[in-house]
Parts: sequence; C-alpha cells; structure tokens
Amino acid sequence: MAPILKVAVIGAGISGLTTAQALKREAHQVVVYEKSDQLGGTWVYDPRVESDPLGLDLNREIVHSSLYRSLCTNLPRQLMGFLDYPFAIREYGDSSTFPGHEEVLEFLNEFAREFGLVELIRFQTEVVQVDLRNDQWIVGSIANKVSSDEVFDAVVVCVGHHTQPRLADFPGIENLPGKQMHSHNYRVPEPFQDQIVVVIGDGPSAKDISLEISRVAKEVHLSSRSPNIKISKLDCGDNMWQHSKIDHVDGNGEVTFQEGVSVNADIILHCTGYKYCFPFLNTEGIVSVDDNHVGPLYKHVFPPQLAPNLSYVGVPYKSASITLTVDLQAKWTAHVLSGKAPLPSKEEMMADIQEYYRCMDDKGIPKHYTNLGLEFEYLNWLVSQVGLAGVLEQTRSIQTSYFKFIADKGVWRRKEWQLGYGIQE
Ligand SMILES: Cc1cc2nc3c(=O)[nH]c(=O)nc-3n(C[C@H](O)[C@H](O)[C@H](O)COP(=O)(O)OP(=O)(O)OC[C@H]3O[C@@H](n4cnc5c(N)ncnc54)[C@H](O)[C@@H]3O)c2cc1C
Ligand SMILES: *[C@@H]1O[C@H](CO)[C@@H](O)[C@H](O)[C@H]1NC(C)=O
Repeated sequence: MAPILKVAVIGAGISGLTTAQALKREAHQVVVYEKSDQLGGTWVYDPRVESDPLGLDLNREIVHSSLYRSLCTNLPRQLMGFLDYPFAIREYGDSSTFPGHEEVLEFLNEFAREFGLVELIRFQTEVVQVDLRNDQWIVGSIANKVSSDEVFDAVVVCVGHHTQPRLADFPGIENLPGKQMHSHNYRVPEPFQDQIVVVIGDGPSAKDISLEISRVAKEVHLSSRSPNIKISKLDCGDNMWQHSKIDHVDGNGEVTFQEGVSVNADIILHCTGYKYCFPFLNTEGIVSVDDNHVGPLYKHVFPPQLAPNLSYVGVPYKSASITLTVDLQAKWTAHVLSGKAPLPSKEEMMADIQEYYRCMDDKGIPKHYTNLGLEFEYLNWLVSQVGLAGVLEQTRSIQTSYFKFIADKGVWRRKEWQLGYGIQE
C-alpha cells in the first residue's frame, strides 16, 4: 500500500490549491497554510499599496497581490482552467475570452469548494520558519500572534513569485527621489493625470498599464531593453512612444534613452517583474535563491538533495499556460510522494539539471512564442509521469494559435484573437 504522508502545503493560491487537490486524491493528510484570510493568492485584488512604492524598505508591510483594478487575464480562459475543472463561461461571469480578475477569483473559490479543499486551509496562518530535523520537517507558523510548530513528512512550497519588486537599474536612478514606483503598487490611472510618465518594461503589465495611463497622462514613454524594439510613436494613442533602454537620468529628472532622445519625466514606473523570495525556508544552503533563479530543482520541482520531501510548485516564470503547468507539477509531486512515480537517483537528477542549463544557454534567452516547443516537451514529460497521455493536444493547438496571433499582431490587440487563428485546418 502507498504510504500516507502528512504534508504541509504553504500558500492557497493556484499552486497551493491544485497541490492540495492532488495530494488529497492520493489520500495524503494535507494542511494548507495561508497567511491571508481568503484563498486565491494573486487573484485577491487588494486596493491597498505599500508604503514604499519601490518596495526597497525592508520593514514595510507587504501587500501580496500585484493586481490593478481593471486587470483582465492576459491568457485566454481556455488556457487558465485545471485539468479536472475547466474555466468555462459561467452564468455569473462575463462571456469574454479574457475575463476580469474577479471572475478568476470566483472560479478558484468554486474549484476549492468542488474538491473539498477549503476545509484543509488554515487561514490567517503565516509560515515563518521551515526546518529539516531527523528526516522530518518542522513548520513554524503564527496565527493570531501565537506561534506554533508542527511536524510533517513533507513540505510543498506554493508561495508564488509576484510580490517582491525587481527594479531596473540605470545611471542617475538616485536623481529621481519620490518619483518612481513599481507596478506592484499600481492600482488605478488617476494619480498619473497630466503627468509625463516613463514606463520601463516589455511584458504584459508594461503594455496594459501604459495604455491605461495614456488615457489620463500627458505623455507615456515606454522603455525596453530588448534589442528588437522598434523606436517609434505608437499608434494606439497620440501620446505614446516606444524608446530603447534608459541611458541615464540627470539631476533635474531628465531621462535620456539610448537612441539619444530625452524627456522630462514626472514619474518612472518600473514594470520590470518580481524576485523569488522564500524567507521562511531553511534548506541549509542546498537550494539557492537569487532574483530570478531557484535551484537546483529537478524538473523545476524537486531539489535532488531534499527530494522527495521538499518540493516547489509554481516556480517557472515563462509559461504559456501557468495553471496547466502548475496543475501537472502538483499531480506529479503527489504521485512521487505516493511512490507511484519514483524519482531517479540524486546524481541522475543533478545531471538532468546540468543538461537543462546547458540547453538553455545554447538557445539564448527564450522568447515566449519560440519557447513553446521547449515548454511542450516539459509538459509532455510531466504528463507521462502521471499517466495522462493525450490530454495536451487541444491545449497545444490553442497555445500555438494564441501565441502566433500575439507574435503577428502584438499583445495590445489580444482581445481580437479568435480560436483557431493561424491553424491550418
Ligand atoms: C499582474 C499579474 C497578472 C497576471 N495575469 C495572469 C493571467 O492572466 N493568467 C495567468 O494564468 N496568470 C497570470 N498571472 C500569474 C499568476 O501569478 C498566476 O496565475 C497564479 O496566481 C500563481 O499562483 P501561485 O499559487 O503560484 O501564487 P500566488 O497566487 O501568489 O499565491 C501564493 C499564496 O501563498 C500565500 N503565502 C505566501 N507566503 C506565505 C507564508 N509564509 N505563509 C502562508 N501563506 C503564504 C499568499 O498569501 C498567497 O495566497 C499574473 C500575475 C500578475 C502579478
Ligand atoms: C521522507 O519522509 C518519509 C516519511 O516521513 C521518510 O520515511 C523518508 O525517510 C523521508 N525521505 C528523506 C530522503 O528524507
């Protein structure tokens, strides 16, 4: 008989919920720790912003979610469902392909109710310390100002990675005191009324937020470090421009881009992504974490030295379908812990990780669309571990179609995407 383990899941966002579901199905005993008073993680919109708009003050009170008020999904809903629970159009919801954030949160609550996960969650309980002692994990948490320790066989880390701002760096950055913020603290466009705004970044947030701000701001100047960027006036508004990287900022706040153009910015908005951060987790240096890397992790989930009793679900950044990736990682983790999907030896896992790094180096920095092949290899591999052959075919054609559309027309026009775009029937 498969062993029944006592497993701590840290976080009740998409990763924690799907992990709890998979572990429960394998009959493990599950406790989900959640510091907030509700489930959903990123998808719980919080109108509050942090006291330090750049997130540099280590003593600030942290707001978890980085959602802004108007946010709609940047992936079609077909790519946001779980394998056992599709994100279909709901009676209460809107019928669009890119629903608002409220609907995603409602969907996650429904999923949790449907699979009996709510009962497993300890709300308002923050994990502050996780240590390994004699092959068992001690999870220290605080609830209602009272701290307690509990012993587990295994721990799955599901805390997300869209909370700690990562900032752009450029000469003269210190010349703009009080005139910079990170998108983590962006909620609504009103504060940008009549301002000249420089938005740094190239991702969906940079694009969506700059378009939203352009409706009230005097001018919006996007700055990207990508070498493929076309420096031009943008046709989505008459007050938006695309520039290259910032070259420097001088003493009176004049921002000069690398192509030589300067603007007098009222504010710089960093839409430059987030850092990984696991302050509670003591792996005795076995897993190292820097801004944009957590490792070594076998197949992005298990640190070979601590496998299978420590795992991470939800680490990959670049993903064409985050929910699906996380769902498969969760199912795989549960199967590994039950002994249904045995892991290779530590040495083999390390060798696989080295091979993966080499492969990434060879390919250079992956691009969203061109990276789909690599991602599918990974998803197919996970599918093979959990015995779900064939489940990815439909997803694959939706992803290919959607990311081809984005590559052809640009992310700004995503709402015009139709299922089947670019696919030869
Ligand atoms: C602006 C923005 C837009 C996005 N848009 C999309 C989109 O359109 N489609 C998409 O698929 N994805 C999108 N994402 C990615 C999004 O992060 C994922 O969809 C998903 O929310 C990740 O889930 P998660 O469970 O890994 O992390 P989170 O949702 O961040 O959940 C982590 C949970 O862990 C809890 N937690 C953290 N630390 C502790 C602790 N020490 N103790 C107890 N609990 C703790 C947190 O309170 C939180 O509830 C977007 C992200 C951002 C920031
Ligand atoms: C993982 O946990 C199980 C159950 O407590 C234990 O028997 C096993 O030794 C642990 N494995 C490792 C590598 O620590």
